[in-house]
Amino acid sequence: MRIITFILSFSFCFFGCALNTDFDYLGLIPKPALIERNSGETILDDDWTIKHNGSHPDLENLKNTLTQNLNSFHEIKLNDDSEKIISLIISSDDSLNTEGYVLNIFNDEINILANSPNGIYYGIQTLNQILDSGQKSNKGITILNMKIVDGPRFKWRGMHLDVGRHFFDISFIKKYIDYIAIHKMNIFHWHLTEDQGWRVEIDSYPKLTEVSAFRDETLIGHYRDEPRKFDGKKYGGYYTKDEMKEIVEYARKRYITVVPEIEMPGHSRAVLAAYPELSCTGGPHTVAKLWGVHKEVFCAGKESTFEFLEKVLIEVSDIFPGEYIHIGGDECPKDRWKEHELDQQRMRKEGLDNENELQSYFIKRIEGILNKLGKRLIGWDEILEGGLAPGAIVQSWRGMEGGISAVDAGHEVIMSPTSHAYFDYYQSKDRLDEPLAIGGYLPLEKVYQFEPVPEEIDSDKEHLVLGGQGNLWTEYISSSDKAEYMVLPRMSAMAEVLWSPRVLLNYRSFSNRMNWQYFRYDRMGAKYKKYN
Ligand code: ACM
Repeated sequence: MRIITFILSFSFCFFGCALNTDFDYLGLIPKPALIERNSGETILDDDWTIKHNGSHPDLENLKNTLTQNLNSFHEIKLNDDSEKIISLIISSDDSLNTEGYVLNIFNDEINILANSPNGIYYGIQTLNQILDSGQKSNKGITILNMKIVDGPRFKWRGMHLDVGRHFFDISFIKKYIDYIAIHKMNIFHWHLTEDQGWRVEIDSYPKLTEVSAFRDETLIGHYRDEPRKFDGKKYGGYYTKDEMKEIVEYARKRYITVVPEIEMPGHSRAVLAAYPELSCTGGPHTVAKLWGVHKEVFCAGKESTFEFLEKVLIEVSDIFPGEYIHIGGDECPKDRWKEHELDQQRMRKEGLDNENELQSYFIKRIEGILNKLGKRLIGWDEILEGGLAPGAIVQSWRGMEGGISAVDAGHEVIMSPTSHAYFDYYQSKDRLDEPLAIGGYLPLEKVYQFEPVPEEIDSDKEHLVLGGQGNLWTEYISSSDKAEYMVLPRMSAMAEVLWSPRVLLNYRSFSNRMNWQYFRYDRMGAKYKKYN
């Protein structure tokens, strides 16, 4: 299948698509699947208007988005009486990808055609980028006539943000979503709970925001520094339900699904500080102030654990209408389960041979709860241990192996291996000029080399790889400036890998086009690392 895709791509490229560096001057990121030059050029000025066909409720919003973009980025103020028209057209063209679009610029006419409003939105992003590199004069902005036929390679184009280790306010979350949006990515994975802080308002359990959302102090410097020092300052915060709903709506308007992550059974010490009865020992526990993996986890033997999680997940489902809920599942030490009579009783009663199978039992019960709520469960690749829950989606992070095994077992996967997708890693080898990071080394080019479908996956199972994701863990990221610096421009590389046809990926071309992307970052007031 991959060979056929390559031959097809190669043959149509013969007739003039954006292979290698041909259209780099347009500065388009991610690179479109096909660009054809039409003869002539078009001048965009105030003497244009936007029309749309039909009654889809999003079309008016898309028109407003384009109007605002033209106004604020390009100083073009449209005029409703004009005869020159940008048409937004929702069609039903079988040859187009569900999120794909056709952008046709032809003299005094610009059409953006797609099967879905998402596609129109992406076409608008591309037109914006073309205007950036257009020629400005007192007549307006001159752009070349061209036709772009485009659509993403992968359905899951995600960015993650850990707000448990450090808390980021709603205005930054919106900015982060803006970055996701300009990259034609479509998933915001919001990692909302951690050992060091719980960030979600839950009406049934007020102590989650009174107690679990705050830690006594925070580590100064790196975990490995000796002796360890702490800052002595209470730290924390949480999002109200209204704020989270506002974020969901903000993301929806940008065709981004918010996937909340509620960690279990591990990374749950903050919950246990407020509700110690849900732990194996009964406590007392504190919200963690040190990074790493903690032994206190939800007790899998007590029914009250599942009652608590069910109530929490019902409220979480109500805030986040998307299809998916991420339940973590990673890094759950089994020490307490081994020592605790109730966990051991559960294992005997359920015929479970070891604690990995107890974890699997835990995740399967949670999957049952989520399915009743109409949701699908996603978990990190540790959920493979002891047996996968029947409909689970696996997010592979400890390499690609977890993803490969899950695909072999017929499960869908998201690839985000530390090797290519951990944006908390250093961006320079010697680390000398870089701010403190967790470790590792992940420069831009390495992100660009990421291939979410490894050779080990048979072609008839490739479709089970939904896509990939960049992850930002924030142990060492306490400010929004630093968060931006860690994700930009690595997000741009990830976006292109997940959107553009594999045969078109070319790092030299990407670097050329990044000059325009840096210009866009500047326009957004972003902090970023500039690669030469
Ligand atoms: C992870 O990085 N613990 C998923």
